[in-house]
Amino acid sequence: MAILVTGGAGYIGSVTAERLREIGEEVVVLDDLFRGHRSAVDRHIPFYQGKVGDAALIERISREHKIDSCVHFAALAFVGESVEKPALYYENNVEQGVSFLRALLAGGVKRFIFSSTCATYGETAEVPIREEAPQWPSNPYGWSKLIMERVLDSYDRAYGLRFVALRYFNAAGATAKHGEHHEPEPHLVPNILAACARKKTELSVFGSDYPTPDRTAIRDYVHVSDLADAHASALTYLRQGGASEFINLGTGAGNSVLEVIEAAKKVTGCSPIIRFEPRRPGDPPRLVADITKAAKILDWRPARTDLAAILRSQWEWNKRHPKGY
Ligand SMILES: NC(=O)c1ccc[n+]([C@@H]2O[C@H](COP(=O)([O-])OP(=O)(O)OC[C@H]3O[C@@H](n4cnc5c(N)ncnc54)[C@H](O)[C@@H]3O)[C@@H](O)[C@H]2O)c1
Repeated sequence: MAILVTGGAGYIGSVTAERLREIGEEVVVLDDLFRGHRSAVDRHIPFYQGKVGDAALIERISREHKIDSCVHFAALAFVGESVEKPALYYENNVEQGVSFLRALLAGGVKRFIFSSTCATYGETAEVPIREEAPQWPSNPYGWSKLIMERVLDSYDRAYGLRFVALRYFNAAGATAKHGEHHEPEPHLVPNILAACARKKTELSVFGSDYPTPDRTAIRDYVHVSDLADAHASALTYLRQGGASEFINLGTGAGNSVLEVIEAAKKVTGCSPIIRFEPRRPGDPPRLVADITKAAKILDWRPARTDLAAILRSQWEWNKRHPKGY
């Protein structure tokens, strides 16, 4: 039986597809390549270019491979873009997501791992954030993910679809083969490293008036390989008959923007030129995961928690791929 990995040409999806293959799983990747890269998918993995909302394509994939599980990374995932283009986000992440689930259920898929996000909690959450914390997203991206969480919960009750919704905090780092490369790049770590490499002249730091020790925002940076391992654990959990769950994935520790910049200076030996800018709307001061539940349910703990090591892995990847994929 095969696992369908949607968004497997993207950042976290490509690392997870690689990991699943390493542990002997049969993997099939579906990606529309809007944000992904064909060369991020191993040439031995069957690859379909198309949209998750294309029911005929999903039916064809189900016919050509025996799909019994799905890991669903495919989504648009830029907060700022979702504020400017909410229709695009609800169409891509929710409309297509619901159509995709219909096609998967018709094909007999009963296990589903969903890429959710700490953005579903919004600004009101207590830190560290537990899964039971209130969810009230501050942008359409977060809402699109929260709506899909609710859809999955209803489908579990009505149709027996077993799922694990993994709420990632901030993915970072690279493996030997795969790294983070988005165009445009909205994420802090690749932008700091690009600024260090002087590909960009200035690094924008959004917000220097937060109620944090150094006044910049604090986030929980989790290595992408640890995320990949958690997906493998979630699949095992569901195969063993585990009930549907919502689970945070982070390290449980937070770093401020200035701390990440300091670590990057040590790793790269270069200092980016910083420009402080106003806070972005909907950017909370502090987002750090409580990861007790992941340890208890999935027996998962992050193994690569040293911030400098996380940055170094992406820095090394950048050196080997100066133009990205
Ligand atoms: N990167 C993070 O820190 C982070 C944090 C929390 C949650 N997430 C979630 O994890 C998932 C992966 O994130 P990422 O950073 O790897 O993103 P990414 O943009 O690198 O990968 C997403 C992939 O999905 C593809 N895709 C998008 N819409 C599609 C569609 N309708 N049909 C087929 N393919 C489609 C894109 O081409 C891309 O390759 C996303 O669902 C995102 O919301 C990411």
